[in-house]
Amino acid sequence: MADSKKYGINTRAIHTQKKFELPTGDVMPPLHMSTTFENTEPGESEYFYGRMGNPTREIFERTIASLEGIEDYENMHGFAMASGMAAVTMIAELIEPGENVVITDEVYGGTTRFFSKIAPKRGIEVNFCNFYDTDKLESLINEKTKLVWIESPSNPNINLYDISSIAEIVHRNNSILVADSTFSTPFITRPFEHGVDIIMHSTTKYIGGHSDTLGGVVVTNDPELHENLYFVQKASGGVMSPFDAYLAQRGLYTLGPRIQIHSKNAHELAEYLSSSKHIKEVKYPGLTDFKNHEIAVKQMDYFGGMLSFYTEDHIDKQKLFDNLDLYKLAVSLGGVESLIEVPSLMTHDSAAGTDAEAPDDLIRISVGLENIEDLISDMDRSLNASIKSLDESKK
Ligand SMILES: Cc1ncc(COP(=O)(O)O)c(C=O)c1O
Repeated sequence: MADSKKYGINTRAIHTQKKFELPTGDVMPPLHMSTTFENTEPGESEYFYGRMGNPTREIFERTIASLEGIEDYENMHGFAMASGMAAVTMIAELIEPGENVVITDEVYGGTTRFFSKIAPKRGIEVNFCNFYDTDKLESLINEKTKLVWIESPSNPNINLYDISSIAEIVHRNNSILVADSTFSTPFITRPFEHGVDIIMHSTTKYIGGHSDTLGGVVVTNDPELHENLYFVQKASGGVMSPFDAYLAQRGLYTLGPRIQIHSKNAHELAEYLSSSKHIKEVKYPGLTDFKNHEIAVKQMDYFGGMLSFYTEDHIDKQKLFDNLDLYKLAVSLGGVESLIEVPSLMTHDSAAGTDAEAPDDLIRISVGLENIEDLISDMDRSLNASIKSLDESKK
């Protein structure tokens, strides 16, 4: 797309890198399954071998880089991996034994598991930190700190960090800032605009958008990091399959409009929950009384589709899950359907006993694209039907 710079983000999602000449005149790019590509002379082939490159994966890797704001997306493309965790471990390959990483104590449970159980075995020191305590953050960064890692909004507490201020601290100390932007996507926050050096997404979530593809992607705006990550991608080999890349790319076409509806639905549900006598506290960036609302206004284009809450003690949570019709009790997020879960027992069970463990009673919802009136009335009916009996309340 020669004029990519002048187009808006939705146009880029649909038109980036769709130039190919097929005799059939396809309007949409085909799925390339071939694992090997013919050479013109030994060693001369654009894609060469499926792990090194694949035309379907390439379209996705270029489009996501363009959406994150990279103008030279053909060269500075993203790196599509087999899962979000494969993207996490790919970035962690940049850390040498003896170096350290500082990570928020509010990250996805699988990321906590990797950094607390696997990274230390490779001689990497890992320090979890509450990033609101910027003095502590600064004291943990030293000349051996390779990466500083944030997730904003955080999973599952939906806390937000002022990314520009964190980037300022990290760069002042010559380290690299990584943002897991899975909850945001480029349609909500573009972390490079706030000083982040490496962005990653689990494409299993909003980017794929239909709970039917597993993947991850890494994007950087730094040429040296790009070269190093490219080497890790092809040498370590946990790449995204062509079919998953096809689905992830297809997800990008509708990501903008989906994010708008996810955000509108989540905002209305959050307002309903805040006003309910059955709910103790709601965490949603769009609520004006939410503690990080000002940061949200500063760095989010929409407030997103994720919210968390605590029920009052008189609600029987198991009954609530049983009574709900439209919210499935399941892990994951970002699909068209609404999902409800208990992070401490489900997505974050592996973080139990670490600094990053999820609060016991917190409930998380990934708000889907259903009619919001239906989602609210299903929740209202279920909450009213899940009140503990007097005997149960005394327990
Ligand atoms: C914020 C975040 N990052 C990373 C991951 C890991 O992604 P995957 O499950 O695709 O490996 C998840 C999964 O839930 C996530 O929520």
